Amino acid sequence: MSIMFTSASKETPDSSTQSKNTNALNIITPAKINWQVDDTGNQVPVSGEFGDVYFSHADGLAESRYVFLAYNQLPERLANLAPRQCFTIAELGFGTGLNLLATWLLWRQLRENHPQLATARLHFITTEKFPIPLADLTHILTLWAQRAPQLAELIAPLLAAYPPLIAGSHRLNFFDDNLTVDMWFGDAAESLARLALDISIKPTPYVDAWFLDGFAPSCNSTLWAENIFAQIQRLSCPNTTAATYSSAGIVKRGLRENGFEISKVKGFGRKNQMLTAVMTEAACLSENYSQSKPANSTHNTPTHSNLKPDHSIVIGAGVSGLLTAWSLANRGVQVTLLDKSAPLAGASGNPRALLAPKMTPIHHVDEHLHTMGYLYSSRLYRVLNETAAQQNIAPILEPTGALDLLIKANIGTEKIADYPDDMATTLSLLQAQDASGLRTQDVSENLYLPQSGLVNPQALKDTILNHPLIHFQQLAVNNISEMEGHVCVEGDNQNQELVSITADNVVVCAAFESHQLDQRIFDCRKIRGQLSWFTPTAEQFASLPKIPLKYSGYCTPFTAQVDDGQLNDVIECSPQFLLGASFIRNDTDTDIREEEHQISRNKLVTAIPEMDSVIPTDMSLWQGRAGVRTQTPDYHPIVGQLIDSERVWVMSAMGAKGYAIAPLCAEALVDMMLGSFTPLSTAMLARLSPNRTRLQTPLT
Ligand SMILES: Cc1cc2nc3c(=O)[nH]c(=O)nc-3n(C[C@H](O)[C@H](O)[C@H](O)COP(=O)(O)OP(=O)(O)OC[C@H]3O[C@@H](n4cnc5c(N)ncnc54)[C@H](O)[C@@H]3O)c2cc1C
Ligand SMILES: C[S@@+](CC[C@H](N)C(=O)[O-])C[C@H]1O[C@@H](n2cnc3c(N)ncnc32)[C@H](O)[C@@H]1O
Repeated sequence: MSIMFTSASKETPDSSTQSKNTNALNIITPAKINWQVDDTGNQVPVSGEFGDVYFSHADGLAESRYVFLAYNQLPERLANLAPRQCFTIAELGFGTGLNLLATWLLWRQLRENHPQLATARLHFITTEKFPIPLADLTHILTLWAQRAPQLAELIAPLLAAYPPLIAGSHRLNFFDDNLTVDMWFGDAAESLARLALDISIKPTPYVDAWFLDGFAPSCNSTLWAENIFAQIQRLSCPNTTAATYSSAGIVKRGLRENGFEISKVKGFGRKNQMLTAVMTEAACLSENYSQSKPANSTHNTPTHSNLKPDHSIVIGAGVSGLLTAWSLANRGVQVTLLDKSAPLAGASGNPRALLAPKMTPIHHVDEHLHTMGYLYSSRLYRVLNETAAQQNIAPILEPTGALDLLIKANIGTEKIADYPDDMATTLSLLQAQDASGLRTQDVSENLYLPQSGLVNPQALKDTILNHPLIHFQQLAVNNISEMEGHVCVEGDNQNQELVSITADNVVVCAAFESHQLDQRIFDCRKIRGQLSWFTPTAEQFASLPKIPLKYSGYCTPFTAQVDDGQLNDVIECSPQFLLGASFIRNDTDTDIREEEHQISRNKLVTAIPEMDSVIPTDMSLWQGRAGVRTQTPDYHPIVGQLIDSERVWVMSAMGAKGYAIAPLCAEALVDMMLGSFTPLSTAMLARLSPNRTRLQTPLT
């Protein structure tokens, strides 16, 4: 963003501060922040990479409001959104987040004054190649909180949600404000190219307003390059607007040659000119293109809203169905959630689930569902902890961290070192012994996951089912029929009566039984697993691991909460020790077997021999729960719309990591259902598609 410069200037760049334009191996280069004092004595950040200012040294907030908010007509356009309409803003260059904060504040104020906005939604997609480290961002935004106290209550949740500096898309949901922020870390041209826009699925997402906020073209031309403008055109529809502080020739040409009609207007403060633009030659051919029109537009454009569901049915109330219901309900869709027996009756109903990712070398990380899903889940469960607390429900996530002993991991310590420490690190021997409580074990080779923790499925379920738009009903579904304009789902209720329910669409989340409900859904591998737990004596407890440990299995202490007993045989409010799990293929029985307690005990004592004398050998008092994991041959879940269907969707095959990946998959699925941009790339959605080639051949 340009304006008055104290010593740094976009107009006179120092060639020694030009950017590194490479992002070797997908490792994010954090921004280097230098500090200057502006005209009014405030400390202001300057990019060490580019030598340019992040925001005006006169008044960054006022400039943001002038250039990006006013010249995209946001006050009027946002105020005029219809109920449940979503408005999408895309930004080039997240920087300090000041534009986001200014927009968020406007959105909050509008929602306070316009009751019809209660169900409208703002989707802010932003790109950043050199994200500012959290410590610097905290410093920068703390100064803003002092200068503009009205921003303070937005800054705290933004900082709490700020992701580790890892390439790829990070979704941040601020549910109370109906605001979704997708931060795509990496080069903007690549990130925009990965935004999925599938015109075969209606409604199709488009950007409504662009914030073009690169550094001055003379300092950094990458955000003003032809490939960027081509992407902007691809992602825009007629009446999409764009605004930028710059009036450089390269910007004017780029916008004009890519479908925009531009206007030069007076710039902010002492700046003569800036540009505002409206898309007139959109690449899209869709008839249902426009979500909103600029306030001064006379065109009467069709809207998406008539294609969006009012009421969805979700079949299966495991973690997949619960999270799908949650994502739908948060977009204002009424959900009927069905299960043949009860919520969490299937694989999801363990006393605790470990939230942990499958790791990958960092050069794959931006396309790695497990990493992105894990980070999203960890953010979501922490936010839901607050919702749960308000409703006197036990915490959903106990943020314990977890230690992987690297016995069955596909990553070694040298690759772990590529990761930022707040995602993954290796503890020193002493630290690892101290954290785990292990005494004689050599734990010098380890992977420590600070964001990991234990999920309490019962608390998650109770919190989600309290959503006023989610209605649970027991129904063993045996038929789904898709008609013109609606779906009809039939099944038997608890009294064996035939019940039929109609809705706008249906999502099948019935895990390994999904294929029985619709033959188009792949008939997956079924892998039985049993989890075991016991109540340790005080003496045993003192020698047991103190945090979750991963080896060829996993184990963890936990304290059973009030209400845990509704789901499983645990002694409420008492310490328990949990260990697992068995893997038995093609077995869907869920009886409890002593030999599988033994399997889990053997895994633990083989990995950690000192546990042999601590874990009881008499397992007669152990408790257990068996469930069935659902897995595809390529190990990816199944997420998307069924072939030859407009109203039947599926989310299944979560394998052994449903608590890490289902929340993000649910967001992507619901985005596709409602015509919003997903946090998953086009390539990733193809890998998850229910219709992918790999799923055309049945298992033998
Ligand atoms: C022993 C074990 C340990 C595990 N540990 C972990 C862990 O620590 N961390 C982790 O992330 N993951 C773990 N997993 C994996 C995780 O449990 C699964 O990935 C997850 O539960 C899958 O959720 P789901 O909702 O897709 O399936 P499910 O939870 O199985 O839910 C499917 C639901 O569909 C319902 N249903 C089926 N047919 C019908 C029908 N016709 N009509 C109505 N309802 C129907 C079922 O009753 C069931 O409630 C573990 C799995 C097992 C077995
Ligand atoms: C002027 S600053 C943005 C200021 C920001 N909007 C704010 O509110 O603070 C420009 C940003 O673009 C980022 N950037 C530079 N080149 C980029 C690229 N190729 N892809 C994505 N972001 C890039 C810079 O790191 C910087 O944060």
